[in-house]
Amino acid sequence: MVHYISAMQDRLLQLLPEAKTNVPLAPYTTFHIGGPARYFFIARQKEDLVHAVEAAKKLHIPLFILGGGSNVLVSDKGFNGLVVKIEIQGIDWKQQKDENVRVCVCAGEQWDHVVALSIEKNLFGVENLSGIPGTMGAAPVQNIGAYGAELKDTLDEVEVFNKKTTQFEKLSADACKFHYRESIFKKKEGESLIISEVSLLLKTNGQFRVQYKDIDRYLSDHQIKNLSLSMLRNIILEIRQRKFPDLREVGTAGSFFKNPILRKKEFQKLIAKFPEMPFYELDQDRVKVPVAWILDRICRLKGKTKGSVGAYERQPLVLINTGNATANEVKEFAYEIIRNVKEKTGISIESEVQLVGKF
Ligand code: EPU
Repeated sequence: MVHYISAMQDRLLQLLPEAKTNVPLAPYTTFHIGGPARYFFIARQKEDLVHAVEAAKKLHIPLFILGGGSNVLVSDKGFNGLVVKIEIQGIDWKQQKDENVRVCVCAGEQWDHVVALSIEKNLFGVENLSGIPGTMGAAPVQNIGAYGAELKDTLDEVEVFNKKTTQFEKLSADACKFHYRESIFKKKEGESLIISEVSLLLKTNGQFRVQYKDIDRYLSDHQIKNLSLSMLRNIILEIRQRKFPDLREVGTAGSFFKNPILRKKEFQKLIAKFPEMPFYELDQDRVKVPVAWILDRICRLKGKTKGSVGAYERQPLVLINTGNATANEVKEFAYEIIRNVKEKTGISIESEVQLVGKF
């Protein structure tokens, strides 16, 4: 067995000389949780990605692609395969004939850096998504969204490396099958696709999206009439700061659960029981309900802790690691919440955070 492992290690290191072995993943996640990666490799160029995929294929070991580690819960046992951290850099701004701008961003760029640059250039489209942690390559996976905007509203095209065909391919926004916190990249049909670059279409003349309750209230409280892109960014950063813990101080992966989308019938039963509950009608038959409200007002979970895991005091949808929480503790805490919500409301909620490795 020992011989077998070291032979495998030798082959992997031959194929990927810069790979490291037995690398703790906790420092690479915003939860600060997770055991070791058997192999760990940083992709700085698109070709590195190709080599990593080839190596994993040759050795028949599983591959996991890591971005900023801000939406994952890595098992305490770590990942028994090759973890590839994407650090491919590059941003290219292309003026279009219609005066709009297409920006092509490599997967390893920080999302919020792209937002800040877009606003410096006075381009509309991503300002409401200010302050979201993580990389460009991770953004389409869950179709990041906040304050009335989603990535899909500005996304033009995604370049992927297809593990099956071993080719780089382009996917239109339609082909990505975006929905609320959903995309092809989370589904079986997209499991062979690794995002290498994303193109966004930004507008030189856009409209501010300020209907979201928190923004609307801020504007009226501060009597703001003439808004600019940088003002809106600062307002959103301020609102976020009030609700989310500082990632430098507290371990977290942001919202842990998705807001459930209910059919009208199920929703009507719920609203009859809890008439004060806020809700968002998506279309004639579907209504999205806020888990944060349920966790706060029905389950009374705000600020509740168990060991080193807790529901954040200002936003209970955000689970936090207050010290040395293990992945198992977080998972157990989350499961308890899922059961609690089911018992009190009849609704099934799902994790938004991706679980990595064996639990
Ligand atoms: N609420 C409470 N009590 C609380 C917190 C919130 O009653 O302690 C109520 C609010 O009053 C509001 C509702 O719950 O009516 C929703 O709260 P909020 O506006 O804070 O948004 P959310 O649905 O909890 C979503 C995203 C966040 C995003 C915010 C802002 C999901 C799963 N989460 O949260 O995204 O920043 O909206 O747009 O959709 C993330 O995905 O990691 C994330 C942080």
